[in-house]
Amino acid sequence: MKNEYELLDSGDGKKLERFDDVVLERPCAQAVWAPQNANLWPSATARFDRVGGHNWEGRERLPRAWNVEINGVIMKLSATDFGHLGVFPETRQLWEWIRSTLRTEKEKKGRELKFLNLFAYSGGATLAAAQAGAACCHLDASKGMVDWARENAKLNHLQDAPIRWIVDDVIKFLSREVKRGNKYDAILLDPPSFGRGKKGELYKIEESLMTTLDLVHQVLTDDPSFVLLTSHTPGFSPIVLSNLLRQYHAGGVIECGEMLLSGSTQVMNLPNGNWAHWINR
Ligand SMILES: C[S@@+](CC[C@H](N)C(=O)[O-])C[C@H]1O[C@@H](n2cnc3c(N)ncnc32)[C@H](O)[C@@H]1O
Repeated sequence: MKNEYELLDSGDGKKLERFDDVVLERPCAQAVWAPQNANLWPSATARFDRVGGHNWEGRERLPRAWNVEINGVIMKLSATDFGHLGVFPETRQLWEWIRSTLRTEKEKKGRELKFLNLFAYSGGATLAAAQAGAACCHLDASKGMVDWARENAKLNHLQDAPIRWIVDDVIKFLSREVKRGNKYDAILLDPPSFGRGKKGELYKIEESLMTTLDLVHQVLTDDPSFVLLTSHTPGFSPIVLSNLLRQYHAGGVIECGEMLLSGSTQVMNLPNGNWAHWINR
């Protein structure tokens, strides 16, 4: 499987990453150690920092947009004003897990599975699920991000795959799905620390996550496959995420861990958020 992403180094509160032949230096608060490979950093194509606002240095050297294959999914990248690119590469191992678990579960159950991706951003996980033959529902409050994800679907020749593209607030959508009786076999949710729904609805993880999980539980089929919960919010450790899932699932298996940015074996892994999943085993 092709992968054109790698972490090159980290340290001094920054990370150095390669996205195909574009090398970017961006802030990373948890990289509190010293860089291991000082000679690599001057090769950065562009740099982003948040000193005195949001600033790119060398943005003119970047293509307006470029495509990168990351763990089998082609993603369109573009440097945004906030330093984001249209992908969070720490989620790429989870895309692989989603793809292989859905393939196995589909075979086991002998039917098409329904996958729901909440806070779905540019769609890496949706497309990995579609590659496994799942019928997907991709939801984000931002129309711009849903359009971006649809472009990514085209890049992966998945424009005709069974994917529902939805611009909505997560809680409003889930409440409607409960009323409509729509159910899903597998659900991924990546709640932000703070977000806004389609009509400006406030989402604060500490206040909104329990309601979200309660609704997620209600839209699971009678014989679901998994729920995967990820978070970048400080304090939402792997065990906290596991405890949250445990409240709804007495049986089955819960596993958890850290999401990592990684590169060659000599490069130190850089933790960037946490995950926990419940599997109905
Ligand atoms: C950190 S990103 C998620 C990253 C994504 N899961 C991935 O791995 O690529 C958070 C996303 O949640 C969306 N969002 C924030 N609040 C929301 C809400 N109330 N309802 C729906 N989407 C929301 C934002 O538009 C944004 O795209």
